[in-house]
Amino acid sequence: MAETGNWSLDIDTDRVAWLVFDAPGASVNVLSSAALRELASCLGEVAAKRPLGVVLRSGKASGFIAGADIKEFQSMTTPEAGFEVVRAAQAILQQLQDLPCPSVAAIKGFALGGGLELALACTYRIGADDGRLSLGLPEVQLGIHPGFGGTVRAVRLIGVRAAMDLMLKGKPCNAARALATGLVDQLVPADELATRAKLLLQNPPPPKVAPLTDRLLNLAFVRPFIARRLVAALRQKVMPEHYPAPYAVVDLWHHYGAAGAHSYVAEARSIAGLICSPTSRNLVRVFMLQDRLKGLGGTTPSGVKHVHVIGAGVMGGDIAAWSALRGMTVTLQDRNDEIIRPALERARTFFGRRLKDPQAAAAAFGRLKMDAAGEAVSDADVVIEAIFESVEAKRALYAELEPRLKPGAILATNTSSITIETLCENLAAPDRLVGIHFFNPVAQMQLVEIVKGTRTRGDVVQSALSFTRKLDKLPLPCRSAPGFVVNRILMPYINEAIFALQDGIPAVLIDKAGTHFGMPMGPIELADVVGLDVCLHVGRVLADAFHRQAPEILSSLVEQKKYGRKSGQGFYSWVDGKAVRPGVGGAAAPADLEDRLMLPMVNEAVACLREQVIEDADLLDAGAIFATGFAPFRGGPLQYARQRGTAQVRRRLAELEKQYGERFRPDAGWDLLPL
Ligand code: NAI
Repeated sequence: MAETGNWSLDIDTDRVAWLVFDAPGASVNVLSSAALRELASCLGEVAAKRPLGVVLRSGKASGFIAGADIKEFQSMTTPEAGFEVVRAAQAILQQLQDLPCPSVAAIKGFALGGGLELALACTYRIGADDGRLSLGLPEVQLGIHPGFGGTVRAVRLIGVRAAMDLMLKGKPCNAARALATGLVDQLVPADELATRAKLLLQNPPPPKVAPLTDRLLNLAFVRPFIARRLVAALRQKVMPEHYPAPYAVVDLWHHYGAAGAHSYVAEARSIAGLICSPTSRNLVRVFMLQDRLKGLGGTTPSGVKHVHVIGAGVMGGDIAAWSALRGMTVTLQDRNDEIIRPALERARTFFGRRLKDPQAAAAAFGRLKMDAAGEAVSDADVVIEAIFESVEAKRALYAELEPRLKPGAILATNTSSITIETLCENLAAPDRLVGIHFFNPVAQMQLVEIVKGTRTRGDVVQSALSFTRKLDKLPLPCRSAPGFVVNRILMPYINEAIFALQDGIPAVLIDKAGTHFGMPMGPIELADVVGLDVCLHVGRVLADAFHRQAPEILSSLVEQKKYGRKSGQGFYSWVDGKAVRPGVGGAAAPADLEDRLMLPMVNEAVACLREQVIEDADLLDAGAIFATGFAPFRGGPLQYARQRGTAQVRRRLAELEKQYGERFRPDAGWDLLPL
């Protein structure tokens, strides 16, 4: 028996070696460079003792291995240094592959990134069939690709089609798919994982290889054709200038065909370059920011069991459904049963689509109850108000609600434009009101703003943060100020797009400028999707607060009841939920359009920071990315400004101000803040 910090090695009486990975002090195994070095020494010992075979498994209940240690990426400051680190790791996995005895990865739960690459270097892989198996190579999501030989071994084992699917999409596959593609040799009951792994080593079958068709597709004269098709499909989704990693995966395979020592060297060189690219640095930062938002929920899980939602409209209905999906008992109140019913029907369809298993869908639906009279208010741990956006209506409702609230229950409002200070004014305990501001559509939007009024108690904010984590959403704490953070930075971008439209630039070109920058959708289309009535309302609130001009065309469309996608007509006509885009002939966008659209958002982000609507620049960037989809590879508006040069951005704003007016005036924060 040998033990390092991360691994233990034991050879049993049947001469089967057991190599168990259990990273000390962590709930999840990650392949740090220390863990890899220790693995190398254990493999040396296995090779020397020549057992019948070796089983690699995890000592963690959570899963096998989550991947390489992302934090170590930051220490690779040059591609040359990165190359050395990656080559060293590749050599260790090669040592595993070259053992004089067969090896099997016994996988329970997840095996992701470097974790799956390690499993790919084993002779066999078996998976515990307990519904939790998740095998994937998600590296592209961090702007890189597999680097421990995965781009080579995945193709060799499961063939180019399945391997490209795994690497280019970055989505993990479940047990059934893992078996179908040959990623695992067997699926076994979870409690038999160890015995079946041993059995496999005692009667080793010939190792699996890719299906014949895929081996044919791998031939040198076929590869260029397949590579072209893969690249064409990629171009439909991402631009190589924004996301080079998936293109690099295709390129590696095209040139080396996943064969020979060169293919590993090329993989290492490619990933080392990618790790040091701005795209990957920013995506890694986004990953860390996501962890930070998750961490805001605190270490004590939320005790919320019963949620009472008032207002069964667009937002309240969906907030109620989402809370029931997440396992809570939910009561839904509105003025009468007839108004609540459509929200329940929507929830039923949502559960069916989302949960697939009819029993689970029925259980979720069973947790959601109609309560027009609001009888359940006194049982609820959280009461979320999502009624009309009216100060009077909300205050009247609170006056009636407050005496019935359970002590310690959270009273939350989903208001998007009224300050918490205004709403809490007549409460007996104004310090218990907090904003929990969801975005539309609730099921798809990850971020929720947690809005703190000047009087809101700290413990109420903390309960709201941890409740948000129970909902599996990302909480963004902010101060109660007009538009909070997300709408505040989004509106100048949408408004500027509408001003550009008023200047005669076609909507299609404006939207193209947005997507070319890396936004998930152009600003004009986004306005139509959000709803022009909603844009007008939020726009007016911000225009009043900051003495700004709102584009006239917006109010005139709303007067004509052209609300965008939901009414079938807005800036675009909408057919079957899709915008009909008119052709623009040979028209090209003006050279300054991209800056004209994006810099108002960046400027507003600086203003939010200066006014301390949000605590720091990282949180602001996280909010922009997770709520507006701000080009993740640019790392958020403030990171973008830093990388472009804050002095340069400020100068550019001043130029735009001269041309288009004071809405571009550089915020005072550019000079005051350490950006
Ligand atoms: P909605 O108009 O779709 O639904 C409001 C519902 O509240 C209606 O069903 C109405 O019957 C009910 N209601 C009104 N007064 C009531 C009372 N006293 N007691 C019980 N029920 C009452 O409105 P929507 O869009 O769902 O908005 C609700 C809240 O969410 C607003 O504060 C809005 O600012 C906010 N919000 C809206 C977003 C959106 O995109 N629609 C996004 C984020 C927040």
